[in-house]
Amino acid sequence: MAMAIAAPLSRPRWSATALTWYISAFIFILLGSAPPASLAASDGGSAGSDNNGDDDDDPCLLYLAQSTIPNAGLGVFAGASFKKDQQVGRVGDAAILTVDQNWHLSSEGVSVSKGEGDYHWPLTNYDWNAPDIGCEWEAEDVSVTVTGFGAAPNCHFRLINIAEHKATYDNAGLDRYKSPGAGASTPWFNRSSTALWDIEAGSELFVDYGQDWFLTRDGVFELVPVADSFEKAQSFLKHYGELLVGSTNPDDLVEDKMALDEDARRDLWDIIRTFPYVTRERQALPVNHEDAIRAIHGDIQAIEKENSVRSVQYLKERGKCMDNIVPAKSNIPHAGRGAFATRLIPKGGLVAPAPVVHIADKSSTNMYNEKIGRHGNIVRDESVIVTQQIILNYVFGHPNSTVVLFPYSSNVAYINHHATEYNAEVRWAKDFSFYHKNEWLSKPVDFLEEQWTSGLLLEFIALRDIQAGEEVLINYGDEWQAAWDEHVQKWHPSNSDTLWTKTTDNNTGLSEYLRAEVLNDDMATPIRTMAEQAVEPYHSSIHFKCYVNVNHLSPYEFEPLTRPYFKREWDRRVDMRDDSDDVHYNACNVTLRYESDEDDSGDDDDDEVEEGAGAEYLYTIELEVKKEFGNTFISEFHVITDVPREAIAFVNLPYTSDIFLKNAFRHEMKLPDDVFPKAWMNAILEN
Ligand SMILES: *[C@@H]1O[C@H](CO)[C@@H](O)[C@H](O)[C@H]1NC(C)=O
Ligand SMILES: *[C@@H]1O[C@H](CO)[C@@H](O)[C@H](O)[C@H]1NC(C)=O
Ligand SMILES: *[C@@H]1O[C@H](CO)[C@@H](O)[C@H](O)[C@H]1NC(C)=O
Ligand SMILES: *[C@@H]1O[C@H](CO)[C@@H](O)[C@H](O)[C@H]1NC(C)=O
Repeated sequence: MAMAIAAPLSRPRWSATALTWYISAFIFILLGSAPPASLAASDGGSAGSDNNGDDDDDPCLLYLAQSTIPNAGLGVFAGASFKKDQQVGRVGDAAILTVDQNWHLSSEGVSVSKGEGDYHWPLTNYDWNAPDIGCEWEAEDVSVTVTGFGAAPNCHFRLINIAEHKATYDNAGLDRYKSPGAGASTPWFNRSSTALWDIEAGSELFVDYGQDWFLTRDGVFELVPVADSFEKAQSFLKHYGELLVGSTNPDDLVEDKMALDEDARRDLWDIIRTFPYVTRERQALPVNHEDAIRAIHGDIQAIEKENSVRSVQYLKERGKCMDNIVPAKSNIPHAGRGAFATRLIPKGGLVAPAPVVHIADKSSTNMYNEKIGRHGNIVRDESVIVTQQIILNYVFGHPNSTVVLFPYSSNVAYINHHATEYNAEVRWAKDFSFYHKNEWLSKPVDFLEEQWTSGLLLEFIALRDIQAGEEVLINYGDEWQAAWDEHVQKWHPSNSDTLWTKTTDNNTGLSEYLRAEVLNDDMATPIRTMAEQAVEPYHSSIHFKCYVNVNHLSPYEFEPLTRPYFKREWDRRVDMRDDSDDVHYNACNVTLRYESDEDDSGDDDDDEVEEGAGAEYLYTIELEVKKEFGNTFISEFHVITDVPREAIAFVNLPYTSDIFLKNAFRHEMKLPDDVFPKAWMNAILEN
């Protein structure tokens, strides 16, 4: 009694037998309903290209291949095994900031302020919150695009096997007073990913996007199961088992007792899986009916875990190696980092696959000046484009189009330009049709704009043999070269930093720029007090924060007439406890410095008490703290004495790092004429 199978996206065609009715009701009741969503067909594709980790002594560590999660598109797989806590891959990923985008892009208006923007910026779906990366202080509103692990792996709550860490600020030695490359590349480097437990070779890698990420993206992404969905799916399976054998007893789940034969079970399972209303719960069900039966009294997760491993052979044949390049200091002057081959890449071989996020209008990277608005507030001045977001330097475009493409796989962001001695080029993938939608290349830009998930795959291909250790270079195009030449010619070293945002701020900087990280690493040099800073200031980008607990037990009975004043000694038990919610890094001023007088280091009886550098100093700090009590704001003044160096930190002010330099270079790379789709050429060159 085989049953007809419903065609995806059409009303069910099978005859309305009692059983079908029962099943429909059953699916609705147990899995809930949702608007119809497309059931993307998937295929395998075959990527077998040269240089795909065939050497067993030097396995490719990471592959891009079809995800084991149905409809999830691309997945990242371990090409070798990784031990718990081991870094997965050779170097962490680059992180690229996009700042104050709502302010710059939200719909036109006289008094644009921060709020929900309705601009089309598909990277929103790939971005991380700044605190996850450690760069939240860079600007008022920061979101971060992370390449590689930050964007390519899937999230599967029950199978997460990768922990991600913060990035480090490291601008590869580009000095803002000496290099025209300063601020032209992202300084956020090495956002590393480690194994949460031992990972076997072939495993798909899953990172945690946070449940909210999925719940807020219905209709944009395929409905990906979240933790709840699995519980519901598991309980659905129990009912399914009962339907098959009329009992919930595991012992009854045997072939003879089944109401349906194997073919019928397969058909029935297909109906359930392809029922025209997709829900997260249904997506959590096992794909094939054998797994469904195993999971009735088992665990969907255990079966999924098994199913989330591909053979290394499969990866070699049908995956694309993402581990052929690593970042290191570039040979190209002012370029910062470059991408270097980890192994021989033969002529015609794959350097790196590069899934791209398409951005329909590159003007969405524009950043505008500020002006004083009608009501005395600061508003956007659209007549002055001050610069573009730094991500512009990492996208491919074409002068005759508004479309730009951001490649997001590991390390391709580091591939530099050479106008003549390039050894690689970019082309469209010819396979991976489960992901790469070749038909988009002939669709108009309006169509692209409505596609909210990425669906295009570029490949970097070697034009000649590239030796292990050699830098990979492509040609960014004549327009890029001309723009860079002009930039270098016009650029001149300057001791006053001109930073672009906040024209209302005074950013002249009286001393050489030195980052807080550098000052913090130097624990030996005493911190200059306010009086000393008046003579010998720190750079204007530097402020202080202190570990202090400014809470106190005395509540205000009435609003004080004068500013409450508190003075006390710093106390480690109160001011630097890790476990206390009351302890915060507060903005502070350092007003006095004195040598620590106590001699309680009794065991250190060598009379060599260090003087000068290394001597222990204590500090007096002052801070103003604004507190809110109901509708009343009270500003308190605290003076805290005997504060040790370790409780004081230098911090960088927002809008002061190199990417905010007004004269930092911005230009997209060009995708060659024969690669960039004609259908997207919606802009005619003006000259
Ligand atoms: C990247 O970060 C990891 C983890 O902090 C560290 O072990 C590794 O040495 C760093 N790699 C580079 C190239 O800085
Ligand atoms: C900016 O700072 C410089 C140096 O302290 C000072 O001379 C100048 O007056 C300041 N400008 C404004 C607008 O505050
Ligand atoms: C530090 O001192 C300056 C100048 O007196 C003052 O404007 C600022 O508010 C002080 N900062 C704190 C945190 O008290
Ligand atoms: C770009 O536009 C210009 C001006 O219309 C045209 O001459 C040129 O051929 C176009 N380039 C391509 C690759 O179509």
